[in-house]
Amino acid sequence: MKILVIHGVNLNFLGKRETHIYGNITLNKLNQLLEKEAKSLKLDLEIFQSNFEGEIINKIHQARGHKKGIIINPGAFTHYSYAIRDALTAVELPVIEVHLSNLFSREEFRKNSVLAPICKGFICGLGIESYFLALRYFKIG
Ligand code: DQA
Repeated sequence: MKILVIHGVNLNFLGKRETHIYGNITLNKLNQLLEKEAKSLKLDLEIFQSNFEGEIINKIHQARGHKKGIIINPGAFTHYSYAIRDALTAVELPVIEVHLSNLFSREEFRKNSVLAPICKGFICGLGIESYFLALRYFKIG
C-alpha cells in the first residue's frame, strides 16, 4: 500500500516564496527527491498538493482503507483547520505532520497546530529532512 504525501496551501510556491525560511528547493524537486528516497526504502508514494481545503479533505477520505499512512504538511491550514483534523481522524490511518520551518521560533499564531494532537508524530524545523524522517518512520513503523 502507498503512503499519501500531502502538501497543503501555498506549498506550490516552494523555492520561490520566503526562501530564507523555506529554502530554495522547488516543490517539483522536493517531490523527485521524495520519490527517490521512497524507492530506496522500498516504499510507494502518492503525492498531492492543493491550495483548497475541500480538495485536501476529499483526498484524505479516499485514503481510508487504501493507504498505509499519511505524511502531511498542511501549510497555514495547520493553525486553524478543524475540518482537516476531523478528516484525518475519520480515516483511522497513522499521520505524521511535517513542517519545513520551526514553528516554535516564529510568530505566535504558528506555535499552535490543531492537527498535531491527533497525529502519530510531528516533525518540524529540519527543512526537507522533516519529510524524509517521516518516510523513515513508515519504513520502520
Ligand atoms: C509551514 C509552516 C506554516 O506555518 C506556513 O503557513 C507554511 C509552511 C512549514 O512547512 O514550515 O505554509 O507549514
